[in-house]
Amino acid sequence: MRHFPAFLDLAGRTALLVGAGETIERKAEPLRRAGAVLRQAPRFAPALLDGVAIAIGADAPEEDLRALSAEAQRRGIPVNIVDRAELCSFVMPAIVDRDPITVAISTGGAAPTLARMVRQRIEAVLPPRLGALAALAGRFQARIRRALPDVAARRRFLDAALTGRPADLALAGRDTEAEAAFAQALDAAEATPLGTVFLVGAGPGAADLLTLRALRLLGEADVIVHDRLVSDAVLDMARRDAERIFVGKARANHCVPQEEINALLVRLARQGRRVVRLKGGDPFVFGRGGEEAAALAEAGIPHEVVPGVTAALACAAEAGIPLTHRDAARTLTLVTGHTREGRLDLDFAALARPAQTLAVYMGLSTLPALAQGLAAEGLDPSTPAAIVESGGSEGSRCLRGTLGSVAAEGGAWSSGRPALVLVGEVVRLAVPADATTRERERA
Ligand SMILES: C[S@@+](CC[C@H](N)C(=O)[O-])C[C@H]1O[C@@H](n2cnc3c(N)ncnc32)[C@H](O)[C@@H]1O
Repeated sequence: MRHFPAFLDLAGRTALLVGAGETIERKAEPLRRAGAVLRQAPRFAPALLDGVAIAIGADAPEEDLRALSAEAQRRGIPVNIVDRAELCSFVMPAIVDRDPITVAISTGGAAPTLARMVRQRIEAVLPPRLGALAALAGRFQARIRRALPDVAARRRFLDAALTGRPADLALAGRDTEAEAAFAQALDAAEATPLGTVFLVGAGPGAADLLTLRALRLLGEADVIVHDRLVSDAVLDMARRDAERIFVGKARANHCVPQEEINALLVRLARQGRRVVRLKGGDPFVFGRGGEEAAALAEAGIPHEVVPGVTAALACAAEAGIPLTHRDAARTLTLVTGHTREGRLDLDFAALARPAQTLAVYMGLSTLPALAQGLAAEGLDPSTPAAIVESGGSEGSRCLRGTLGSVAAEGGAWSSGRPALVLVGEVVRLAVPADATTRERERA
């Protein structure tokens, strides 16, 4: 950035305009609107710069313009000589004026025409009465601070008020009604400072596998409560100043007990904060999202669930394995390999039925026992199977074979990253994505 943008307070201060003609008159106009006291002269003399806050020259003899530029810069007074970048210490931006909102556009002097085109576009998208809306919020500023001392609650209130009914009324020119609606919204916010908890699916890892809704909520969150499975790429999408609380769990190493996580979510919401509870994959697939939603409902906390791409979908896509297929699988079963009291508590007879695909979560360490249980119910160990590690995120890998072979080799093959086991005839029908396409896409 060649020029640093700043907005000068010129109210009651002197602005010098040297020159006589249409150009200098055009420059005088915004200075007048900013409340500057104009000192205008057709020719330059050094004494004209006494007590001046800003100086502009145009439509004057060359030697006057050069002298004005040199003397102003010697005295540290910002100076602009129109269309003479080499004589300027600041550039005049193109301005969109929605007082008190001002948009200033600069091309660093490189292409003023382009700045004017950008201004026209901005003029077209900003409502003409946007300034009235800003002024309305300004009039309530002190009251908002008193009513909502918490910064996050304040921001949330303003987000709603500046896009909701008070805004509609102000933009429509119905100022009295807008004032009343704003006051009413503020009263309501003061009376009910309850925050909201969003149980958000973070997907399998890649940031571009987040849903648009998840992305928006991440950008609006005051606090993010996240798991071990949530990738840094996804966390990077969150608002920079959002608080982050890690409550990750590793298998057999529950960092924060579920009851404490539930209590934490309730506590944060009662502080009036906007909470995103970010969970790997989908919150309602082996994510204990149901327990958290129930705890929030019981505590009367407003909440919403935002689905995410679950590991089975991401891994299948990664490995090119269709989860269902008219010729091979009419049922898809999501199953956990996690043990209960040291045992795989599964209905093996149901899982061994033909024409279905099994997607086994948390199943790598118990895969030999799972394979054994399925074989005991008649599933052929030569049934095609695959293990997909880190599906839908950086460095994904896949081990293909049969149920027997992946059960035998999986432990040694694993790098310790999250892995999903897919079992069924569909694995044979895999059409892996073209590697070069994928690399090109990811580059
Ligand atoms: C507690 S479960 C959470 C599942 C998550 N809620 C979902 O919908 O994907 C954790 C298990 O999901 C599987 N998993 C999660 N992310 C994965 C990924 N990117 N690749 C492969 N498996 C994954 C692994 O089996 C891991 O042990």
